[in-house]
Amino acid sequence: MHTSTALSRIAPSQTGAMTDRAIALREAGRDVISLSVGEPDFATPAHVVAAAKAALDAGDTRYTAVGGTARLKQAAVLHFARDLGIATQASQVLITAGGKQAIFNALMATVSEGDEVIVPSPWWVSYPEIVRFAGGSVVPLITHAKDNFRFTAADLEAQIGPRTLWVLINSPGNPTGACYPAETLLAIGDVLRRHPRVMVMSDDIYAPIRYGGGAHATLANLCPDLADRILTVSGVSKSHAMTGFRIGVSTGPEWLIKGMEAVQSHSTSNPCSISQAAAVAALEGPQDFLLDWRERFRARRDMVVRAINAIPGLATPVPDGAFYCMVDAAPLMDRFEHDDGKLALHLLEHGVALVPASAFGGRDGFRISFAADDARLEEALRRIAKALA
Ligand SMILES: Cc1ncc(COP(=O)(O)O)c(C=O)c1O
Repeated sequence: MHTSTALSRIAPSQTGAMTDRAIALREAGRDVISLSVGEPDFATPAHVVAAAKAALDAGDTRYTAVGGTARLKQAAVLHFARDLGIATQASQVLITAGGKQAIFNALMATVSEGDEVIVPSPWWVSYPEIVRFAGGSVVPLITHAKDNFRFTAADLEAQIGPRTLWVLINSPGNPTGACYPAETLLAIGDVLRRHPRVMVMSDDIYAPIRYGGGAHATLANLCPDLADRILTVSGVSKSHAMTGFRIGVSTGPEWLIKGMEAVQSHSTSNPCSISQAAAVAALEGPQDFLLDWRERFRARRDMVVRAINAIPGLATPVPDGAFYCMVDAAPLMDRFEHDDGKLALHLLEHGVALVPASAFGGRDGFRISFAADDARLEEALRRIAKALA
C-alpha cells in the first residue's frame, strides 16, 4: 500500500456511505426509504434536457476551454447579477464540474500547510475533508439549534487568528437549512475589514430554495468593497435538479479564478461540454418553475418539522432554506450508547436511511433530506416514530 499523507488526512463521504448501505439493503429485497441524499426528486426541466440532446446532435462533444465555454460564462454572469445581486464579468467566472469542484479548486489553489479555515458546524461533509486534503487545519465554529444554527459576527471574530485564511459561509446551509440575514452578513463584513488577510467562501448553491421573503442576502452583494476576497459558489445541481450534469459556477477575484483554473487544467480539464450547453438553458431559460418547486419543498418542510417535533425525544428548529432538517435526539441517546451512528443504523433497520449528525460535525441526532416525494416522506416519518417508540 502506497497511499499519500494527503489521503491519510481524509475519510470517504459518510453521506455517500449511508446511501450505498441503503442501496445494498434495497437490492437484498428490503424496503428502505432513503432520506440521506442531497438532491431534488423533481425531474430535470424538459428544456434543459432538450438543450443537452441538441448539443449532442450538434456534435458539441469536444474539449471546451478549461474554465468553461464563453457562452456559459456569459449565462453565469447573468445568473450572478439576477439571482444573487453580484455584478461580475466573464474573466472572474469559472465553470466547474459541480459546485464541489469550485470549492476543491479554491482550497487547493490557496491553502498552505498550517493555514486555518473556519468552518461553521454542523457543516457540509466535504468542507473539512477538502481543507485537510489541501493541508490546512479546520477551525470549527460551533452553532446551536437554539440559534437556528447561525453564528454571529462576534462568534466569528473570536475564532479568527493570525493563521486564518478562509471563512466558509453556506447560506442556505446544508445540513441545517440556516440562512444568514443581511444584518449579520453586514456585521461579518465589519469583522473582515479588521482582518485583511481573511477570505470568504460564500457557498450559495441553495440560494433559490429559501422560505422567508425578500431577496437572497450574500456577502459579495452587501459588501462590494470586499469583493476582492470573496469567492461566491453557485450552480445548477440543487436549483435546477441537475446533480448528475455536474456543473458549478463561481465568481471571485481574477487571481483566484486563474489559480482555480490552473488546478482544474491538471485534473479534470473542462466540465462536460454537453452539460455546459444544458446549464446555459437552465440559467437563461424560464425560472418561474423554481417558485413552484420551492412551495412544494415548503409544504414538505412544514410536514417534516411538525411530525418530528411530535415524536417524543426528537426536536428540530424550522429550517429557513435548502431541503434539510437537523434533528436533535439527545434525550434518546442513552439507548444508543451516545453514538448517533448506532441510532442511524437502528433507523435503517426500520426502513429509513438517514445520515447521523456526527457526519456533519454535530452530535446526538441526524439529518433528514426532505427532497423525497410526499407519500414516501410520510411513510418514513411513521417508521421513525415507530422505531423510536
Ligand atoms: C453545501 C453544498 N455545497 C456544494 C455542494 C456541491 O454541489 P454539486 O453537486 O454542484 O457539486 C453541495 C452538494 O451536496 C452542498 O450541499
